Amino acid sequence: MADPAIDEMLRVLEQERARGLELIGAASSHEELERAEVAVLGRKSPLASVQRGLGALADENRRRVGQRTNEVRETLRSAVAERRSTLDRSADDRLLEADALDVTLSGRRPRPGSLHPLTIVQREIADIFMRLGYQVLDGPEVEDEWHNFDALNIPQDHPARTMMDTTFVDVPGHPELLLRTHTSPMQIRTMQAGPPPIYVVVPGRVYRNEQITAKNMPVFHQVEGLAIDEGISFADLKGTLEAFYRELLGPERQIRLTPSFFPFVEPGAQVEVSCFVCGGGGCRTCGFTGWIETMGAGMVHPRVLEAVGYDAERWTGFAFGGGYDRLAMIRFGIPDIRILWENDIRFLEQFEASG
Ligand code: PHE
Repeated sequence: MADPAIDEMLRVLEQERARGLELIGAASSHEELERAEVAVLGRKSPLASVQRGLGALADENRRRVGQRTNEVRETLRSAVAERRSTLDRSADDRLLEADALDVTLSGRRPRPGSLHPLTIVQREIADIFMRLGYQVLDGPEVEDEWHNFDALNIPQDHPARTMMDTTFVDVPGHPELLLRTHTSPMQIRTMQAGPPPIYVVVPGRVYRNEQITAKNMPVFHQVEGLAIDEGISFADLKGTLEAFYRELLGPERQIRLTPSFFPFVEPGAQVEVSCFVCGGGGCRTCGFTGWIETMGAGMVHPRVLEAVGYDAERWTGFAFGGGYDRLAMIRFGIPDIRILWENDIRFLEQFEASG
């Protein structure tokens, strides 16, 4: 039932469908889209004339061409709707873009801080002992006489008590309060806190009422060490300190222990390390002796163990303690201890940036 007029109408419909989709898809603005819509769906469009011609067709052809006309119109309408919402969206995007606040510009870079030389040394010390299995603790700087002196076997009238130039704290009703003169009271506090085994180091500030000079400040830093266990010997003390100083100051370092007296250890010793400036040959830093005095040490006195209620027959241990301001000064070539307290940014920023 070939009818050239029907074929022509179907051909026009197919052509309009293809042309319409292309026009609509190419519209890059709402105006272009409107023009495309009028051209393919408007009253003067080829689609409209096909529709108008439907009335003249016989029933069966009318249904066939009419259905196809509707399909093409729907296809084109939904293409228009889709294109319109795409254009809406990109218009929104453009608006947002124009409206956006660019926070990437002109930011002011915060100046990175750097670690204080004492902090650097303190962290190195703590790290080394942590690797040896020690815990790192903090203690109170305001102490009482019992922890700072009595429990450490330094009785009321002992010369060590006056030698330490104690600063008392003026709190009414508490004549026993003072600024700790050493970190050793933390030996007592640690043992009071629980039973052995104990392996701790405690870095921190200590106070002595002394004149300010290039070498002395009334506040300085010490690190205390305490190991309490079964069967600890003086050899363990020496081995531990040697391992520590070789880690801190170089594998060639030697240590030397000479007899000394501290009421809370027996035997007691003065610890020296071979000079890490000249290597032990003798220089100004070590006073041409080759050795630098670094700390006091010894086996914990049985009276101290008894003061905290430990069984001195079962437990033994060693303690050591000494300042590290001088180590930091030698290490970083700082000539005057007062510089450590001035917090002059030009001095501080010469040290490594904080992690
Ligand atoms: N506390 C002593 C001081 O300040 C040092 C020390 C600590 C000595 C531990 C022996 C054992 O001089």
